[in-house]
Amino acid sequence: MVVGWVCAVCGTRVDIAEAYSWTCPRATADDWRHVLMPVADGAPVIPDDDPNTLVAFRRSSAWWAFARAHGMDDDVTVEIAREIGDGFSRTPFARHGALSDATGVEVWAKDETSNVAGSHKARHLVGVLLHLLVAERLGLSTSRAPLAISSCGNAALAAATLASRVRWPITVFVPTWMDEAFGDGLDRLGADVRRCARHDGDPPGDPAMAAFRRTIADGAVPFSVQGPHNGWCLDTGRTIGWEMRAQADAAGVDLERVYVQVGGGAFATCCSDGLGDAAALHAVQTAGCAPLAAAVAALGDDANPGVRWAEVMRPWDAPHSLADGILDDETYDWLGIVTRLRASGGRTVIADEATVVAAHRMVNDGGDAVSPTGTAGVAGLLSDLAAGDRPDAAVAVVFSGVAR
Ligand SMILES: Cc1ncc(COP(=O)(O)O)c(C=O)c1O
Ligand SMILES: [Zn+2]
Repeated sequence: MVVGWVCAVCGTRVDIAEAYSWTCPRATADDWRHVLMPVADGAPVIPDDDPNTLVAFRRSSAWWAFARAHGMDDDVTVEIAREIGDGFSRTPFARHGALSDATGVEVWAKDETSNVAGSHKARHLVGVLLHLLVAERLGLSTSRAPLAISSCGNAALAAATLASRVRWPITVFVPTWMDEAFGDGLDRLGADVRRCARHDGDPPGDPAMAAFRRTIADGAVPFSVQGPHNGWCLDTGRTIGWEMRAQADAAGVDLERVYVQVGGGAFATCCSDGLGDAAALHAVQTAGCAPLAAAVAALGDDANPGVRWAEVMRPWDAPHSLADGILDDETYDWLGIVTRLRASGGRTVIADEATVVAAHRMVNDGGDAVSPTGTAGVAGLLSDLAAGDRPDAAVAVVFSGVAR
């Protein structure tokens, strides 16, 4: 059960009963490098056999603990999870014949392409929305502050999809170069899509992110898939790892490693946290954007990484790769990944571009329609094998997004 939150940087604790506890109380616009992470009481994660995973894993989730801390009946929490949770069912996890044959390694693949909005992203966002729905039902709010997100990819689609289910207003900040058809899809879901151009005198960095920060300062809800913007995304994001652990155990497979593609880093943090320490996290980036690997190398075995955030996590210059969903110039959730690398005995992996392309082709030729971002973890495995680093037992990969 989740009992509260702790900032991985300054150690500030926040009680689970606190409403809208998105960010560390000590974070400010200038000093934003803080991140709240869920604190659990250590009880084992035991799901119900309900087909809805939000319901099945509720007792290990922060939104449920928040509801219960305010005296909400369990039946009501289930009702709320069902209201938002259509399609949140266990995604397939199976031995991948083609990849196992091609590599000589037992490769198990978690397939998120059939998940809500075609990627794993909805898992991160749904916890934020569940918190809001619970708070509304408890009468803690009388009006609906708009949700806001800065994304032009899977996260935006997941965000708009979830918001539309409960008709919660949402603003999506996107760059001017966003694909028109994708924007039309967000429009159809009822999102307020704002194309953000760069203007003279703007601060450096992404103008969509700057607009997002301004609207948050004005009271919008950070509907973000990045922990520093909203720690709640690090809660239900763990359902992917919890599912994989239960599925691996049921199949009797001993996972030695999990290869997870890293962009902002919330995905790898949550996947590894849910899966547990037995599977060594292999955090995969591409040669065209590898700020995490650089930070981990600069950090060494420093026992207090949080204080070195600004020093070691440097924005990557001109990120580029076919795997365009993991081109975040900074790994926002790098602290979560460092914790997981250390706990599981894992490491970072950098895949060169030819291997990124080869992994994508190998998976899609095998009949799975997965995006190049979604197969980047496979590229990490192929890189290790090419370097002569061969696991002794089975490994897991995640097909995290459908080909579009
Ligand atoms: C399909 C897919 N896989 C993986 C990722 C990486 O997730 P994260 O940014 O949490 O590291 C993304 C992010 O956009 C994605 O769209
Ligand atoms: Zn803090």
